[in-house]
Order: sequence, then structure tokens, then C-alpha cells
Amino acid sequence: MKSILITGGCGFIGANFVRLAIEQLPAARIVNLDKLTYAGNPENLAGLENHPRYRFVKGDICDASLVGRLFAEEGFDCVVHFAAESHVDRSIEGPAEFISTNILGTFTLLEAARKAWKGTVPLKGQSPRFLHVSTDEVYGSLGETGYFTETTPYDPRSPYSASKASSDHLVSAYHHTYGLPVLITNCSNNYGPYQFPEKLIPLIINNALNGKDLPVYGDGKNVRDWLYVVDHCTAILKVLGNGRIGETYNVGGNSEKQNIEVVQTICDILDEKSGLLSSGQPRRSLIRFVKDRAGHDRRYAIDASKISDELGWQPSLAFDEGIRRTIDWYLENSDWISAVLDGSYHTYYQKMYGER
Ligand code: NAD
Ligand code: TYD
Repeated sequence: MKSILITGGCGFIGANFVRLAIEQLPAARIVNLDKLTYAGNPENLAGLENHPRYRFVKGDICDASLVGRLFAEEGFDCVVHFAAESHVDRSIEGPAEFISTNILGTFTLLEAARKAWKGTVPLKGQSPRFLHVSTDEVYGSLGETGYFTETTPYDPRSPYSASKASSDHLVSAYHHTYGLPVLITNCSNNYGPYQFPEKLIPLIINNALNGKDLPVYGDGKNVRDWLYVVDHCTAILKVLGNGRIGETYNVGGNSEKQNIEVVQTICDILDEKSGLLSSGQPRRSLIRFVKDRAGHDRRYAIDASKISDELGWQPSLAFDEGIRRTIDWYLENSDWISAVLDGSYHTYYQKMYGER
């Protein structure tokens, strides 16, 4: 049986990935190491607590002795590394945590893997494998045209993207210097179930449902390439299984949208599903153009032809369908939104696991 360490499995993408991996890798044991920051919610994995192939460990990826102990106890064949501080606006307000978790945390995991896997001769196409989950934001900002490819020079412009770029460089360096069997994925903006309502799509859904203002930064014409989270997770599974060691794979949704289009689409779908606001106004009336984000990247767009050509991966959902699914999930899970916003999942955590 394979033993896989997943870091940050209680966050948005990590939780979707743990669920998919438990289902699609029946011979794998999953150990989820998560610090449970504000963005990590154990309720995202409700129902898995007593699964025979799943173990949750509350802890920090920067804690070298904990990470080393887990490698010794579990004999990991693979690491899928999601844990990070992930919100650009928070990185502008307070970058320190981003440097610690994203850079030092990645370094701690790399060191543990290097020590544990020293002397291991990788068999063709087999483990061990260290997959580092990263972002397209490391490439900087595009103008009206062009796409990020795997050879686009790094040009990070926010503390968040700079910390992710730094961690990507460390991962590559461990491959070149020590022969660590690494893989890197750089993905575009994700959306879907379990995304903390501080990122654009869940924030707009939540505010629009509650008749609150919908803040659009600057002129609303910044472009992001949106990918449904489960499609990102299937891409990671493909790369983990068959990606070439030492390679980077860009992952994107082929769904470029201006922010204002995304916000208007959410308003229109909610009007259709939940009726107009109590004032009789459509939800577009809540849109407010607000002060722009400092250093706001104008456009991101991914050329995903490498992962498509080499590994046969394609996104399965177009944005129009993915956004409807996402809105349905948030409509059905309004309790989840209130719980993560007021932190009451900690009560749930204590009940399920006890403090340890
Ligand atoms: P998230 O913020 O929703 O979740 C992060 C998780 O990591 C949380 O569960 C949190 O508790 C955990 N964590 C944070 N610091 C930790 C630490 N020191 N030790 C252990 N656990 C810690 O993030 P997400 O959106 O799920 O993103 C996951 C990964 O994917 C990140 O590396 C991010 O850079 C990358 N990524 C995200 C997107 C996106 O659109 N969300 C796109 C591309 C890449
Ligand atoms: P976000 O979800 O924070 O992701 P990222 O900054 O990593 O791309 O933001 C997506 C886009 O939406 C980005 O251009 C900033 C913009 N935005 C708003 O206009 N209003 C908001 O309230 C938020 C959170 C983001």
C-alpha cells in the first residue's frame, strides 16, 4: 500500500483532493498534516474521520521534528504539498506568515523527504515522489495577449507570489542538487466547494446572498483563468501518477474572464435561483467599484498544452457549468459559510479529535 503525505488537506483544494484520492487511489493510505489556520476547516473532511486509510494530524509543516517523526512512522512514498498561506490581500497586509509557511515550511518538508529517501533508487515510473502544488502567479502579469508556459520566466509581484516562487525554486534546487524526485504544478485560479469566503467567487456569492455590497477592485477588468477545483485535483493525480520527475506542468481552465463578468454572472444566476433582493432590485445593483489592490496583476492565462499532450489531461467543466455547480453547493451549504466565518468549526474539531 502506498503511503501519501498530504499537507494542507483541510483547506480548499487540499480537502477536494483528499476526497478524490481516497476514492480514486484504493491502495493508498492518506496522512493529512494541517495546522488548521483560519483557512483550514476539519469539517471540509467530515465523514472521513474514521476511514481506515485516513489519518489526520494537526501540526505545522515548519515543525521539523514533527515532520521527521511522521516520515519515520508512516514511511511515505509520496508527498502532495498544498499547505500555504494563499490569499494575496492578506500577504499585502502581513507578509511574515507567508515567508514562514510558504518558504520555510516547504524547506522543512524537502529536508525531511531528502533524509527519508536518501539512498532510495527510484524504479521507473514509481515512487517516491514529491509533488509541490504551486500557482500561475509566479509568472507575473500578462498584457492583453499571450499565455504562461512552463518556460515563462518567473516575475512574482506580490508577497504571496514571491513566497510561492521562492518555494518552487527550492523544490527545483533539491531535484538538481540532491536528485530529489520532485514534480511541480502551476495552476490558475480555482473555484468550487469549500473555498474560504475571502476569495473572489465565494465572497461574492456570500455577499450577494445576504444583500451586502459586492466589492470589485479597480475597473473590474483584471482577467483570471478559472478552473473548477475537482479538475485541478484530477490534474494533480495525473502528474503524481505519470508526470516526468523534475518537470513542471502548467494547469489551467481555458476560461479567461474579467472580474466584472464573473461578478455579474453570479448576480444573474442568484437572481434566477433565489429571486430578486427584498428591495425588488437585481443583485447587480450591489456592485461597488472600490480602491484597487496594490500591485494588482492585470491578467493571468495558462497554456496547458504540455499536461494535455503528455498526460492527456483536460478540464472537464466549462466555467458556465462549473459556476452553477459552485453556486448550488454554496446555496446548499450556507451553514458551512457561517461556521467558517465565525470560526465555530473549532468546536466541531474539539468534539471530533480533542485538542492534541
Ligand atoms: P487554503 O488557504 O484554502 O488552504 C491552505 C491550507 O493549508 C489550510 O488548511 C491551512 O490550515 C493549511 N496550512 C496553512 N499553513 C500551514 C502550516 N504552516 N502547516 C500546516 N498546514 C498549514 O489554500 P488553497 O486555495 O487550498 O491552496 C492550496 C495550494 O494550492 C496552495 O499552495 C496555493 O498556493 C495553491 N494554489 C491555489 C490556487 C487557488 O486558486 N486557490 C491556485 C493555484 C495554486
Ligand atoms: P482572488 O480570489 O483574491 O484571487 P487572486 O488574487 O489570487 O487572483 O481575486 C481574484 C480577482 O478578483 C483578483 O483580480 C482580485 C479581484 N477581487 C475583487 O475584485 N474583489 C474582491 O473582493 C476580491 C477578494 C478579489
